[in-house]
Amino acid sequence: MDFKLTEEHEMIRQAARDFAKNELLPGVIERDEKQEFPKEQISKLGELGFLGMMASPEYGGGGMDTVSYVLAMEELSKVDASASVVVSVNNSLVCWGLDTYGSEEQKKKYLSKLTTGEKIGAFCLSEPEAGSDATSQKTTAIDKGDHYVINGTKNWITNGNSADIYLVIAQTDREKKHKGINAFIVEKGMEGFEVGPKEQKMGIRGSDTHSLNFNDVKVPKENRIGEDGFGFKFAMKTLSGGRIGIAAQALGIASGAYELAKEYAKTRKAFGTEIMNHQAIAFKIADMHTHIEAARHLVMKAACDKDNGENYDLSGAMAKLYASQVAMDVTTEAVQVHGGNGYVKEYHVERLMRDAKITQIYEGTSEIQKVVISRSVLRD
Ligand code: CAA
Ligand code: FAD
Repeated sequence: MDFKLTEEHEMIRQAARDFAKNELLPGVIERDEKQEFPKEQISKLGELGFLGMMASPEYGGGGMDTVSYVLAMEELSKVDASASVVVSVNNSLVCWGLDTYGSEEQKKKYLSKLTTGEKIGAFCLSEPEAGSDATSQKTTAIDKGDHYVINGTKNWITNGNSADIYLVIAQTDREKKHKGINAFIVEKGMEGFEVGPKEQKMGIRGSDTHSLNFNDVKVPKENRIGEDGFGFKFAMKTLSGGRIGIAAQALGIASGAYELAKEYAKTRKAFGTEIMNHQAIAFKIADMHTHIEAARHLVMKAACDKDNGENYDLSGAMAKLYASQVAMDVTTEAVQVHGGNGYVKEYHVERLMRDAKITQIYEGTSEIQKVVISRSVLRD
């Protein structure tokens, strides 16, 4: 496998790296402490084209490939995973979903504003009693002729309060099970739509996670995405690509912690020498480097599969499963390499360790990735 990057890829990676260093790093500890959404930074990311990277240029998107997107995700996540999850949801769930399956009118009206960051998007599938088991959702969308009426609650929604446009998955006909599910575009401000309380989180604390309530929300029929009954496939297909973005986020969190640990090992002294000269520490660095490289190969393979028009359900699930485990392992070891300083906020690695955990949970838990992988390989 040859993952040679083009000059353009290198430029995108450098631009994301510079942005992370100059715009995200200052204030990242404070935003984490205060659970503050990186509003200004997200708006700048929109201006720079990082919020609609893969979307079609005619709707304001960058028309870039998935490799460019994962390179940017890795660089941003090295520094601020709260900002990068906003980038991830907007790019690979909301913009990609609308660009691929939306109508011309939906793209003109919504996508063109989401690609530039003028509006922010959210993807609403999970419910209080239906996370992994996504088809058992209770939110209903009743067909009333020229509109649908949505009732129910969505849970843990990223960008819950900051978003303007929400892609909402709901049951239109329970009898038909997953074939009775539809996806809708809901705008903030529609009557009966209410943002619930903000979750108090362990990690990615700068991103805002909320429950959402729908009380007789009237949504015009033209806001349904795709044919009647396409909603569950829409969610699954969109999540297959989303998982590549989260895998890249996990890779970035791991790489960020690794780089900090490596520098620390070179400078911190104990027993009259830099700690890197103690084999126990040097071997930790060796393990981190090896696992990160392996994760990078899986992430790039999944991104290339998507770019080459190959099926990426399996490679994306493997990339997410593996990279998220590497993120947990590497960040935990990075704290250990830092000793007491690792436990202190100003050294960043404790935050990266807290942030790493979510990559094993959202966009399908690690157990769900194993369901996807095992079904795929056993079927083959
Ligand atoms: N692409 C297209 N269609 C797919 C598909 C895919 N990747 N995966 C499943 N389907 C289709 C199946 O073909 C089937 O359709 P047919 O009957 O027409 O063939 C239908 O969907 C139902 O499939 P299953 O029988 O496999 O469904 P299941 O109930 O066993 O569930 C699952 C499968 C993979 C476990 C799925 O429920 C799942 O992915 N759960 C996890 C949900 C999840 O990832 N949530 C993330 C929320 S968003 C988020 O988290 C964002 C964030 O944090 C930032
Ligand atoms: P459950 O499904 O109840 O799972 C509990 C445990 O059982 C897990 O360990 C799980 O892996 C395991 N389990 C369940 N089923 C199986 C099985 N068949 N085989 C083996 N093990 C199984 N959702 C959205 O829709 N949009 C968002 O923007 C979004 N953002 C999120 C942001 C944050 C910070 C968090 C915490 C969650 C977010 N989610 C979002 C929800 C997330 O996708 C779900 O939490 C996740 O899919 C797991 O669902 P659950 O929490 O209901 O866990």
